[in-house]
Order: sequence, then structure tokens, then C-alpha cells
Amino acid sequence: MTGRTSLTIVLAAGEGTRMRSGMPKVLHPVAGQSLLAHVLGAAPKGAGAGLAVVIGPNHEAVAAEAKRVRSDALTFVQRERLGTAHAVLAARDAIGRGADDLLVVFGDTPLISAATFERLRTPLKNGAALAVLGFRAADPTGYGRLLVEGHRLVAIREQADATSAERAIKLSNAGVMAFDGRKALEIIEKIGNANRKGEYYLSDAVAIVREMGLEAVVIETSEDEVRGINTKAQLAEAEHVMQARLRQAALDAGVTIIAPETVYLAADTKFGNDVTIEPFVVIGPGVSIGDGAVIHSFSHIVQASIGKKASVGPYARLRPGTSLGDGAKIGNFVETKAATLEAGVKVNHLSYIGDAHIGANANIGAGTITCNYDGFDKHCTTIGSGAFVGSNSSLVAPVKIGDGAYVGSGSVITRDVPDDALAVERSQQTNREGGAKRYREMKTKGKPAKGR
Ligand code: UD1
Ligand code: CA
Repeated sequence: MTGRTSLTIVLAAGEGTRMRSGMPKVLHPVAGQSLLAHVLGAAPKGAGAGLAVVIGPNHEAVAAEAKRVRSDALTFVQRERLGTAHAVLAARDAIGRGADDLLVVFGDTPLISAATFERLRTPLKNGAALAVLGFRAADPTGYGRLLVEGHRLVAIREQADATSAERAIKLSNAGVMAFDGRKALEIIEKIGNANRKGEYYLSDAVAIVREMGLEAVVIETSEDEVRGINTKAQLAEAEHVMQARLRQAALDAGVTIIAPETVYLAADTKFGNDVTIEPFVVIGPGVSIGDGAVIHSFSHIVQASIGKKASVGPYARLRPGTSLGDGAKIGNFVETKAATLEAGVKVNHLSYIGDAHIGANANIGAGTITCNYDGFDKHCTTIGSGAFVGSNSSLVAPVKIGDGAYVGSGSVITRDVPDDALAVERSQQTNREGGAKRYREMKTKGKPAKGR
């Protein structure tokens, strides 16, 4: 919104006991991204848009996640959980800096959109002291109910304090609020805890605003946007809603998805033009897919970049750090990890390529394995451009296969192969015994010091 500064406070101090997990609630993922990251992604950003996250004691991991997503995020610890208004006041120092708009959102509502934050800010521009996001709950049990007179919002009644007539109200508090930043602190400090639970309810801000002779309004949205997550079942529901959104957005952007309901995307998946995704594909975080690429069925891809017109699968597993050049082909039952495959490389069947760099147009035969791990350390394999590795070869890293080199099928390569050389090493008994001996020595005597 032009000209108005903002501070968004994300409340994330709750334990999330109903998740029955050792992990803080807001770190659970939806579409490959933490609940907190989703909320932070929707919050106002850029110049004049501050951010504060209120976390529980011993929740360093939540603070780290906030900083990872928004390096400018301030974090505040709420030592005792005395209610949502009390949690907001943990960020008092940030509020005191006086942004035009103060936004409060819960860290467990990952489906909220940036557009909704902007809609909520509009009434402030027009003089309201408080705007509350409301929705019509299919089952409002547990939510604060919005009490309205005509268009005016007069109070929010929490479930425990509501009369049976009030409990029949479907219009509910989504938990997102926008305050006039200059009045926010005064309003929130007036909130008491004289209620059934003895908690400081942020929802009481509405009645206080009215008592102060100021205006409070409600802005409505759909229930799907404000689903709060308290349980694993609700986490799964949110995943369902988010996947539907991501698939729709991909289809709208021109991605061909043959059976969308069987394809799982991540919130940050990037597609070029004319990408095709066959049924039953799982895409985790950090994946980009270039123009014209095809992802065949039953492939699983995480943190990988896929070049233009590349082909992946069926049944391929691309693990973190995989980079496929344009036109590269990864076939069935091939696993890659921390591997760069330049343009035109083919690894068509039954291979493991890890900690490797493969030059353009190399052909890696069926069953080729980069033996990257000696039981103690990972080592790299380099394969030159245009090289040909015959089927069922083991490349024992660290090892380098030169440009245009040829490795006969069934070879166990333990020494570098020069450019354009032919290497056919079927009997590497001595080398393999050497490796076994070294392994046994390290097991008993420990690893030799580095640099030896
Ligand atoms: C809250 C609202 C309710 C609304 C509902 C929407 C209040 C009092 N009630 O109820 O009107 O309909 O959300 O989902 O605001 N938190 C803290 N510190 C605390 C207490 C809570 O950081 O001391 C955080 C929690 O981590 C959570 C959020 O605030 O992210 C909401 O708290 P929760 O206890 O889940 O509130 P609800 O009972 O769901
Ligand atoms: Ca909640």
C-alpha cells in the first residue's frame, strides 16, 4: 500500500501440544514449507514493512526459521503464555516505533494471502482504528464469535464466555487484525483478563475500541484461507487446500498436468513454458523445471534444477543438489545427488550418480554407480564431456574420467582415465583388496589425519 508503513506481528509462542510432536507447531511443513514461512511470505514486505515474530522460550529453531525467510525479522520471546494480547505485548518495543498500520496474525494459519492483508489495511486508511478478519465457519465451535450491529463490529466473544445464543453465530474471528498503529499500544494495554480462562484475549480489543469511541470493522474472507492448524488432521487438510491451489496456479501458468490430483508440488516450485508432468509425481522444495521438460510418472524430485527439454523418469529420484542441463535424460531407477549433469547427458537406467560432475553429452550406461562413499568420507567423480561409460561400471571416487574416454562395461575404475583413453578394467582385485584393507585399518585405528 503506497505511503503507509506497517509492522506485522506473528504470534508463534504456542507449544502446539495437540500436534503431539517434538517440533514446534509453526515449523511443520505444508507444501514443503513451514507454516511460519507461509505466513511470513504473505505478510507485507519491502520498504516500510517491519516484521516481528513472538516465539516461546527455547524456540531457537523458530527464530532461525523466521530469519531464514525474512532476514529483517525481529524476534521476541513470550516467557509465560498468558494469552494472545499478552503475546502481542512481548513485541512492545517494535510497536513503540509507531508504524502506520499494526497487523497481527497467528503463525498457524498458513493459507492466508498477501491480498487479504492489503484488504484488511484499507479501512485503516479510511479512519477505522481496527479491522478484524472474519469468516463464516461451517462449524464455529472454538472460534471467537463476531458480534455485529448492522455493519459495525461491537465485540468478539470467545467460546468459553459465549451465551448459547452467541454460540449460534457463525461469523467467526479468523485471528488476523489490523490496528491503527498510533493507537494500537493504548488499545492493547487496556485489555484485561477477567474472563473464564483468565487470559489476555486480543479479541477484547474490539470492545475497547468501541468504548474509546473509535470504529472497528470486519472484513470477510473464506474459511479455507484462515484454517488454523492445531492438529495433524488439520495439517493434512491445509496440505489438501494448498495443493489444490498450487496445481491450479501451475495449470493456469500453462503447465500440462495430466492427472493434477496425483501430483504434489511445493510452494516454491518454478516452471518454464510447456512443461509436462505425468501422473504420480512428487516435487519437494527448491525445484525449477525448464521450458519443454517432461517429468514422467513416479518421479520424486527435491532441490534440483532441470534444464530445458530435459526428461526425467519414470521412476527417477532427483535428490538435493542435482542440476540437469538442457536436453539431459534421466531414466528409470536412476538416483542423483549433488550432481551436475551438463547438457545432453544421458543416464537412462538403474544408476546412482552422487557427488559428481558429468560433462556435456556423456553417456552413462545402465547400472553405473559412482562409489562416492568409502565408509568415512564422500568423494567426487568427474566424467568428461562426450565420455562413454559402459554398463555395470563402478567408478570408485575420487576419480576422473577424461573427455571422450571410453570405459568398458563391467569395469571397476579406481584410477583416473585420461582424455580419449580406453579403459577396460574387469579385474581390479588388487585395488579392491587395497580399499578393503584401508577401510579395516580406519575402523580399528581411526581415520588418518587430513593432508597425509
Ligand atoms: C484464537 C482467538 C479466536 C479466534 C481463533 C482463530 C483469542 C483469544 N482467540 O483462538 O477468537 O477465533 O484464534 O483461529 O485471540 N499464542 C501465543 N501466546 C499465547 C497464546 C497464544 O503466542 O499466550 C499464539 C499461539 O501460538 C497461536 C495463536 O497465538 O499461534 C492463537 O492462539 P490459540 O491458543 O491457538 O487461540 P485460539 O484458541 O485458537
Ligand atoms: Ca488456534
